[in-house]
Parts: sequence; structure tokens; C-alpha cells
Amino acid sequence: MEKKWWHDKVAYQIYPKSFLDTNGDGIGDLRGIISKLDYLKKLGIDIIWLSPIYKSPFVDQGYDIADYYAIAEEFGTMEEFDELLAEAKKRDMHIIMDLVINHCSDKHEWFQKALADPDGAFADYFYFRKGKNGNPPSNYRSYFGGSCWEKVPGTDKYYFHMFAKEQPDLNWENPKLRQELYKMINWWLEKGLSGFRIDAIINIKKDLNFPDFAPDGKDGLASCWKMVESVDGVGKLLEDLKKSTFEKYDAFTVGEVFNMKPDELPEFIGETGHFSTIFDFSAHTLTDGEHGWYDAPKLEFAKWRATIIQAQLETQKYGFKANIIENHDEPRGASRFLPSYAQTPDGIKMLGTISLLLRGIPFIYQGQEIGMRNAKWNSMEEFDDISTKDQYHTAREVGLSDQEALEVCSRMSRDNARTPMQWTSGENGGFTKGTPWLKVNPLFKDVNVEAQEQDPDSVLNYYRKLVALRKSDELKEVFTYGEFLPEYENVDGVMAFYRKDESKCILVAANFGKDAATIKLKSEIEKVWLSNRIDGTVDCEKDSLNLRSCEVVVLELE
Ligand code: GLC
Ligand code: CA
Repeated sequence: MEKKWWHDKVAYQIYPKSFLDTNGDGIGDLRGIISKLDYLKKLGIDIIWLSPIYKSPFVDQGYDIADYYAIAEEFGTMEEFDELLAEAKKRDMHIIMDLVINHCSDKHEWFQKALADPDGAFADYFYFRKGKNGNPPSNYRSYFGGSCWEKVPGTDKYYFHMFAKEQPDLNWENPKLRQELYKMINWWLEKGLSGFRIDAIINIKKDLNFPDFAPDGKDGLASCWKMVESVDGVGKLLEDLKKSTFEKYDAFTVGEVFNMKPDELPEFIGETGHFSTIFDFSAHTLTDGEHGWYDAPKLEFAKWRATIIQAQLETQKYGFKANIIENHDEPRGASRFLPSYAQTPDGIKMLGTISLLLRGIPFIYQGQEIGMRNAKWNSMEEFDDISTKDQYHTAREVGLSDQEALEVCSRMSRDNARTPMQWTSGENGGFTKGTPWLKVNPLFKDVNVEAQEQDPDSVLNYYRKLVALRKSDELKEVFTYGEFLPEYENVDGVMAFYRKDESKCILVAANFGKDAATIKLKSEIEKVWLSNRIDGTVDCEKDSLNLRSCEVVVLELE
């Protein structure tokens, strides 16, 4: 396999709005990010992904871009962005941005011009279609609820949006639009950006007939992803994109790809794939409800384990996936993937160890490194997220009470990941001196960076050790390129695997169970590299390794 500059890197996602506010307006900003670069460097981070910082009306928190060439005023200026790039570079760190090109904002100049002349050239940057017998052109439900089609005022036409109606989809069949996007991407790469996280990209290919599908919900509509899954040809568009932009700059790209066809993995992430890598969402989709959050199944450990193992085995045949516990669209992983008895510093360290030592590119989401958890939400008014509001509505529609629907949202809301970063035990967790745009998780008094800096056994200091171990001279090679091999799959509650190459055999073993567990080692321990016991020891007699509940060990075997 040809080695690439990003193979051995560790990445960190910043959600700028909630990272650190330096001017007291309650909104995180670029100054805040610049001031924390040393914090990230100390954690061992190489690549920083910024969720969107472009000019936007923030209907979907910046995933609705009004100007691809401008920084949102809320976050700062282009000069500050350039400073961030330079400061990151000084520290040998890379910045990647979010690339949202399936859609833009309805306030984008292109869409404004399209609305002004629905038969003109700019209308062809979008999908404008006539309705059918007084109905929209097709029966698709958007990802955020309601029809994918919005009437263009004063005409008999509709425009297409797979997300909010303020996020019109861009017409990728139009070569002029494609050239505009490529020009913009190259402009950022010329500036010194190292690559992009590519938003919702699988959706760019549409079936231009927009056929109806059988309704699958109480609203009589059909999920729009059914069209995505039934249409072929996204690969051609993605190749054109790559050749015209990323490839020329050796950029690192990580795709947000759901609904890929099963045999498409090599095409997406193989040596000559469309992207450097894509996120592994397989564990997250385990709790996808068939009709929404209200019917989300409970997470079962055995299924979770099997799912991760299968994704690892499949992926290593072709390339690398990016491994996450959470991101800005998911509830906190510590609340979601750990049973309640394990939602402790030990359990959180255990989950982090498994995720970071899998084969792939680890992405840490802001706050994960201190063990941030879901917030307690007292009423729907506390939420900001557009999709949470829609899911509440859906849950009420099928008969859940207000309280039940609130509980569903509390558990699943994207706002769980978007509450401000917890820096100190002071006012607003040290995030802002003003009023935070979204409430601070009340847990901040116990869980914050400042307190964890002081405590050698904190989650934060453990994460530092863990990242350093992954990148250490001795183990970097095996953790980057070594094979993934599952082990002890029949031991209840244990998640364990080897990372192996010609020179090293590393066993990572964790006990997610409530009771202690014992496993038989296949060879002798050469070295204990890491353990989440305070004294760093392991409990091993001859070949029997005893693991307490929530214990994780990283061992080199002979
Ligand atoms: C992606 C983003 C999400 C956003 C959506 C629409 O899934 O991660 O936050 O709402 O795309 O852009
Ligand atoms: Ca601010």
C-alpha cells in the first residue's frame, strides 16, 4: 500500500459555535480556536476539522452557506482565519474545513437570482420543476421533515431541497455549477487548507425523473434517501470533483457517506478512491429508528461489537475509515454506547481506547477528551436544532405524550453534542462571559478541562497518553498499518482485538460487562503499554487475564 501523509494522523472536530467565545457575544469564534491550538497540540492532534464557518443565516447551524468565500461575522474575519492557518502550520497541524456542496442557503446569490428569474440561467443551478396535478413533483420527505419540494412564489414551479427548505439542492448535472464549485474549492486549497470533510455528498446524484416511492410514514410521504439509494452514477460526479480539485493538492478528504451501495467501498476509499477516507457510521446506525428517533432501538453490546468488527474486517481490505464515537449530529457517545454503570471515567477511557486503537483515522469530537455526556433537557424550548424540533413533532404525531417526546429528544438530540465546551468550573463553564447561544450542560462543574488538567488520572490526561501511545515511535507503525484481528468474540461483555504486523502483536482488551471477566492469553505478556487502572498494572495469573468491569488494557504479546 502506498503511504499517504494522513495515514498516521489523529484528527479533532471543532464545532466553532460552541468551542470558545472570546468577545462575550455567547458564540464561539476563531480567536477562541486560535487560543486553544496549544491545548490541541498537547492532546496530540494533527488535523483539525472545522464545522462550517462560512457566511450563513444559520438555519442549520452553518450547513446553509450564503457565501462560500466569506467567513461568518459571528466567527470573525478572513484575516483571523488566515492567522489560524498560519498558527496551525507553525505547530505542524493541518486545518480542514467542512465542504457543503449538495446544497447552499436560500440566501446565496445564486438562489436569489434563480428566484428572481425561475426560467433563467441561475434556475438551472438548482432543481426547479412543475408540480403534478396540483401536487409537488414527487412525494419525498426531506431529512428534516415535510416535503422536499417548496413552491416558488408566484409561479407553478417548485424547487427541490433534501434538507430544510432554506437549503436548496444544487444541480450537479449543470457543468457551469460544477465549475463554480471547483473554483471555490481550489481557492481554499490555494490558501493552504489541507483538505475537507465533505458534507452529505452522496445526495448530489438525483434521479431526474424524481419517481414517487411507496409512502412510509403517517404523513403519506416517502423518505428521500430512497431516491438516493435507487439511482446510479454518483461515482462519475465524485471522480470529476476529485480530479478537478483535491488530487492536484494531495488534499485529505473525508466523506460523510450514508446509503452507499454495499460493493462500492473500494471505489470510495481504495487506493484510487473518490475520497481519502469516509466515516464509519455503522455503530451509530444501529440505533436508527425505522420512522424516527421515537422508535430507535436500544443499543445491544453484542450487536455493537459485531458491527464494529465487521466494518474493520471489511475496510482493511481496501483502505481506511475514519473512526468516531460522536460528532455534531449525534448524541454523546459516552451516553449512547455505555450502559449506565459504565458512564464513569473508567468506562469513558475504555470506550476511547477501543475507538482510538481501531484501524483507521481517529476523529475526536470536542469535549470527548474530557468525557462530556448528554445534557438534561427540561423543555423543548431549550433546544435549538432544526431536526430535533422535527423529531419531536413526528413523535407527537404517532401518539407520544409531550413528556415522552421530550425524553426521546433528550436522548437523541444533536444538541447534546452542541452544548458549549466545558473549560472551567466557573460561570458558563468558561465558554463565554455573555449568554451562551445554547445552554451549558449542568455537568460542567464536575466535568471540565481545568479540573482535569490538575488530576493525573483524569479522562483528559488518559486521552493524552492514549494518543501519544498511538503515535509513539514503537507503536505508530502497528497502530497505523497493522492488521485488525478480533479475539474473544464469544466472551460476554468483552471487546478485544489484536493489531498485528511482522514485528509486533498488540492486544487491546476491554470489559464492557457489569461483572469481572477472565480471558486466556494466547502467549505471554511482553509489555503492558496502557491500562485504565490507576496504578497502571494488570491482573494476570499465568495465562489468565482478569478484567474488572470497565477495565481496558493494551498489551504487547510475545
Ligand atoms: C450533514 C451535517 C449536518 C447537516 C446536514 C445538512 O449531515 O453533518 O449537520 O444538518 O449535513 O447539511
Ligand atoms: Ca464570540
